[in-house]
Amino acid sequence: MSETARRGLGHRLLLALIAVVILLVALSIITWVWFALNAVTIVDPPPGLIGLLTARIPDGPDADLLRRGRRLVIAGDCVSCHTRMGGHPFAGGLGLPTPFGVIYSPNITGDRDTGIGDWTPDQFFAALHRGVARNGGHLYPAFPYPHFTMIPRADTDAILAYLKTVPAEHYIRSANRLPFPLDIRLSMIGWNALNFTPHAFRPDSSKPLAWNRGAYLVQALGHCGACHTPKTALGAERPDRALQGSTIDNWVAPDLTGNPRTGLGRWSAADIVAYLKTGRNARSNAAGQMAEVVSYSTSLMSQSDLAAIATYLKSLAPRPDTASPAPAAAAMRAGGAIYADACTACHLAGGRGQPGMFPPIAGSAVAQQDDATGVIHLILGGGRTAPTSAHPTFQTMPSFAWKLNDQQVADVATYIRNAWGNRASPVTADQVAAVRSKLGVWRSLSRPGG
Ligand code: HEC
Ligand code: HEC
Ligand code: HEC
Repeated sequence: MSETARRGLGHRLLLALIAVVILLVALSIITWVWFALNAVTIVDPPPGLIGLLTARIPDGPDADLLRRGRRLVIAGDCVSCHTRMGGHPFAGGLGLPTPFGVIYSPNITGDRDTGIGDWTPDQFFAALHRGVARNGGHLYPAFPYPHFTMIPRADTDAILAYLKTVPAEHYIRSANRLPFPLDIRLSMIGWNALNFTPHAFRPDSSKPLAWNRGAYLVQALGHCGACHTPKTALGAERPDRALQGSTIDNWVAPDLTGNPRTGLGRWSAADIVAYLKTGRNARSNAAGQMAEVVSYSTSLMSQSDLAAIATYLKSLAPRPDTASPAPAAAAMRAGGAIYADACTACHLAGGRGQPGMFPPIAGSAVAQQDDATGVIHLILGGGRTAPTSAHPTFQTMPSFAWKLNDQQVADVATYIRNAWGNRASPVTADQVAAVRSKLGVWRSLSRPGG
């Protein structure tokens, strides 16, 4: 090869390399936007589901393994994502909507053709630990493998053994509706290269057993950070800001650190256990995506696992506090009047609430998150507290979308974020308009005269 030809080749190789790097970065960004905005749909899976998750597992040679497997499946909330409306538990087909399209969860019942009946423990471990399916295809991070990677082999074996015993259902999910290039699973190689390394859970030997159990449940199986941890520009969770609160699908999963204003600083371990077990306590009710987590996962967990989670969460150092500008006096006046008119029937004067039924707003962390999206969503769309065996009926907050225009929602939100010792950034009508249009609720009353 001549010198010029060699240089030409080197040049072309360099260009090709640059092109690949650009492509990888572009794919990562697209994937991130898709992943960051990815929504977990709240649906009502069939009532038989709780029955399946709580039925007695008969004694037998495998009983201990199966009971352990089910306990792990409950802690991982596998059922919420893998059950479609009206479908069989674990048979998949739930469409997870994204701004770019829809991704459907697969069948993880023991059906041999369409489920995981034929999967070996090695294949199952590879899916959870590395995010790689049986056919070698890369799974999308809508499946929380960045957390499940920490589940040890003994536990994935128990999970697989249990899943193979749930009623098998022959069902093939619909094809994902994703645009190019996201429909190509290879695009996940780029995302993984930048954001994900398979790893094991590392217990901290200086900490008690319960703390380590709690850390494992929160970080690995419970994938709490998938909602509660802020993301990097590429959509990976920020380890330096673990569980400090994040926005997901127009809700805010609040700060879970020891910060007394935005986090769990004022909650006792018993408060945390009560919230996770029953969906409510004297300080807050579980609504939004947390309602689903409570109904199908934490409310079915054992008291000792919940106590372990509380021990771990109570050990988290408070997130540094943020400053916020003072609200305008006019907004506080207008907001106070709206609060007195529209909110006191349930939350009472002084925002003190009727604990156990209507949560207090004075001191509420949900009300004081930096990002007001969750509060705006709640006021516009209303909310529904998770039903649990302790409280089988819904507790609902009505929607105010048709009653209050954007400015009024902004004022009352500003008010509850800054009255009674609360402190958080004021809310503008534009912020409300943005959430309203994303929620797709009726706009005609959204602006005075509009
Ligand atoms: C937040 C939603 C969510 C949760 C929680 C979840 N999954 Fe999934 N899972 C998915 C989605 C979505 C896919 C499909 C990803 C894809 O197609 O790339 C998937 C894929 C899988 C696969 C690969 C199946 C196949 O046919 O390739 C397995 C195995 C699996 N999940 C098991 C579990 C188990 C076990 C749990 C509980 C410990 C669980 N999942 C919890 C959403 C979830
Ligand atoms: C699918 C997203 C999602 C997952 C997964 C999730 N959460 Fe949440 N969580 C939320 C949202 C959203 C809220 C706010 C609920 C509300 O406004 O009523 C919340 C609220 C909470 C609260 C109450 C905070 C307060 O100040 O009122 C606690 C405690 C909590 N979550 C703990 C957990 C733990 C522990 C896990 C893991 C086992 C977990 N969450 C997993 C979305 C999630
Ligand atoms: C009919 C009773 C009712 C009325 C009226 C009502 N709410 Fe609520 N509110 C609830 C219930 C029930 C919850 C718990 C369920 C949930 O979180 O969605 C709640 C929760 C909240 C929370 C979350 C508190 C936390 O820490 O979990 C805020 C903030 C809130 N409401 C604000 C308001 C505002 C502002 C108004 C008036 C515009 C209002 N509510 C009117 C019943 C009501």
